[in-house]
Amino acid sequence: MIYFGGGIMKVVVRIGGSVIASPPNPELIRKYAELIMNLGKREHKIAVIIGGGKLAREFISLARELGLPEQEQDELAISVSRLFAQVLSMMIGGYAWRKIPENIEEAVRALSERGIVVMGGVKPGMTTDTVAALLASEIGADLIVKATDQEGVYTRDPRKYSDAKKLDEIGFNDLEKILSEDRHRAGIHQIIDPEAVRILKEKRIKTIVVNGFRPENVLLAISGAKVGTVIH
Ligand code: UTP
Repeated sequence: MIYFGGGIMKVVVRIGGSVIASPPNPELIRKYAELIMNLGKREHKIAVIIGGGKLAREFISLARELGLPEQEQDELAISVSRLFAQVLSMMIGGYAWRKIPENIEEAVRALSERGIVVMGGVKPGMTTDTVAALLASEIGADLIVKATDQEGVYTRDPRKYSDAKKLDEIGFNDLEKILSEDRHRAGIHQIIDPEAVRILKEKRIKTIVVNGFRPENVLLAISGAKVGTVIH
């Protein structure tokens, strides 16, 4: 039994495409649908933002090879993220929930009407981390949980450096130092997008990065248990 000490919360859950969509994982998608429905029943407000994962990156490569410009590569990735959002949304709310918000305004409206909203990307030149940060700041979220393919934030990229160490917590300023200031490119992958970090830092929104292959980690993060990396 997980205790939610803080009462009703507004939570943004950012689920990596690397987690539920690379390849598409019906088992995990079902678990996330149940988890989100249960949180909604406790009257928490839950906004979920999903990325397009491997399939989005395949479309980006295809478009790149065909010589389509960066903006159009991004548009394709956004479409893929919305497809996965649509799957999860319909698992939660059925056919009536098949329409996926295409911008922050629509997402805010859906969230206030239903208490739960699921969406993907919104516009070229950003990542779904930034979408999550923008929505979190718009609704005054208590918390963002990023469900990713690693245990949390590491001192350096653990896929490249075997001596990388997982951090239990980190301040926004130190996190900004760890993340290289890469300019946006279609399909860019970092543990969390520096642009999102900038927004979250400014609005002081607590962020927890957890391993999303175990959806219960999202519940643990919301309940205040020690899991993943807390960014504050
Ligand atoms: P993400 O990199 O944000 O999603 O979006 P992901 O697949 O969940 O990534 P992981 O699992 O965290 O690695 C994929 C791509 O979609 C485009 C960008 O090219 C981005 O890199 N995108 C997404 C946009 O252009 N605009 C958006 O609003 C969202």
